Amino acid sequence: MHSCYADPLQLHYCLLVQGDGNIELIKMKGSMSKDAIFSLIKQEESRQIAKIGLIPSENNTSPEVSQVLSTCLSNKYAEGYPFRRYYEGNQIVDKIEQLAIDRVKKLFKLPYVNVQPYSGSPANMAIYFALMKPGETLMGLKLTMGGHLTHGHPEVTASGRFYNSVQYGVKPDARIDFAEVRTLAKKHRPKVIVAGNTAYPFVLEFDKFREIADEVGAWLVADISHVTGLVIGNEHPSPVPHADVIMSTTHKTFRGPRGAMIMVTDRGLHKDPKLGQKIDSAIIPGLQGGPHNATTAGIAIAAEEASRSEFNKYARQIRTNADALAKSLLSRGLSLVGGGTQTHLMVIDLSTIKPGLGTQVAYALDVAGIYANRNTVPTEPMSPFYPSGLRIGTPLVTTRGMQTQEMEQIADWITQVVEHVQGEELPSSKKERESYLVNFKAKADQDKKLLKLSKEVKELASEFPLFRW
Ligand SMILES: Cc1ncc(COP(=O)(O)O)c(C=O)c1O
Repeated sequence: MHSCYADPLQLHYCLLVQGDGNIELIKMKGSMSKDAIFSLIKQEESRQIAKIGLIPSENNTSPEVSQVLSTCLSNKYAEGYPFRRYYEGNQIVDKIEQLAIDRVKKLFKLPYVNVQPYSGSPANMAIYFALMKPGETLMGLKLTMGGHLTHGHPEVTASGRFYNSVQYGVKPDARIDFAEVRTLAKKHRPKVIVAGNTAYPFVLEFDKFREIADEVGAWLVADISHVTGLVIGNEHPSPVPHADVIMSTTHKTFRGPRGAMIMVTDRGLHKDPKLGQKIDSAIIPGLQGGPHNATTAGIAIAAEEASRSEFNKYARQIRTNADALAKSLLSRGLSLVGGGTQTHLMVIDLSTIKPGLGTQVAYALDVAGIYANRNTVPTEPMSPFYPSGLRIGTPLVTTRGMQTQEMEQIADWITQVVEHVQGEELPSSKKERESYLVNFKAKADQDKKLLKLSKEVKELASEFPLFRW
């Protein structure tokens, strides 16, 4: 026997690699499986199976990606880069990281890749660190209109504090206001313009961003965290011909482990041949220490999976399901921000029913077995804490094998829940809101209608495995 790995999806089992290289699955004995943590993981697994996940930034990994995450690779320190490490003993880890880099390069047809960022937020900070000095100007989409915190959200974030953050928004039709992007860019001469989205349901028009970036001499950074899988599957415009630097988390539509990758395009390298090295140095020693080698291996596996023709079908189905879900919700009288979606996600606009209803709807839906997240709408009348929208998306349900008929059913359940709680009134004073919400949640936990729905949801969800090709 060489190694024993706990398989996170089969907690009572263990993979044994025999001396002859054969792998055997055996039942686990001993105290490890009795640890309270294992029982809690099992409960989380049951929750994921019984419920329907609509959070557009979440996804389920293949059993192979899950397996490598619990291997001996996390025992090793590998500060530095392949074949140039500060620690000895990295002969194998070097090959693993190089394979991950080569696969991602091939997938996107790009000359430079770094797979070490711990996650999307440090990856964005590393890009800024490589491209700007503190105090220089960064332009990104407003958080309330679909951008991400790390795109320069003012005051409370590092990106908003260390750089002079200028934020652009969307037009009344909820599409990015390129006239505003251009005016702001000409006025503030940003060093970096970020084109990226977290709750923006339409495609990112990288060609338009490029034009403006060229007019003011800015770097164009494409944060495709949400849409990587769609880009790979040709369901979303590619940033490769337009951006200088591309960042993506690896755990969303890419369907890999929690992590991120930074890529530099030919265009970026043409502008600055040292750009790759600058990104490498921004990661280590700039921001991070040793890479998470098990995650690196997971990225390598996910990149191989994303190169298969089945992955293109997966991307297509995400879009088909998103269109079906949007159509079904609209036909039941709900409003969507911008009237629909061109991607994997959409935001239900509850402000037309009652401002601030996102909190109650999200909680009640979870009791009914469907989890999503409350979100601001572009014309938010309340606040990010009590927003008027609900963000939903189809990557996870598509991974489980759900199709348009299930989207129709899910839309029906969502509508029933919205109608069930639409009479709720959020008190205007902050103090009253807190006690109101405690009572609302206690009431929802016992609500007969929501509990009945949760049984129906469980019945459907349990028919679908967590991961299916
Ligand atoms: C567009 C975008 N960029 C960056 C991030 C940050 O990623 P992480 O949560 O892995 O730090 C997110 C996360 O949701 C995102 O949506």
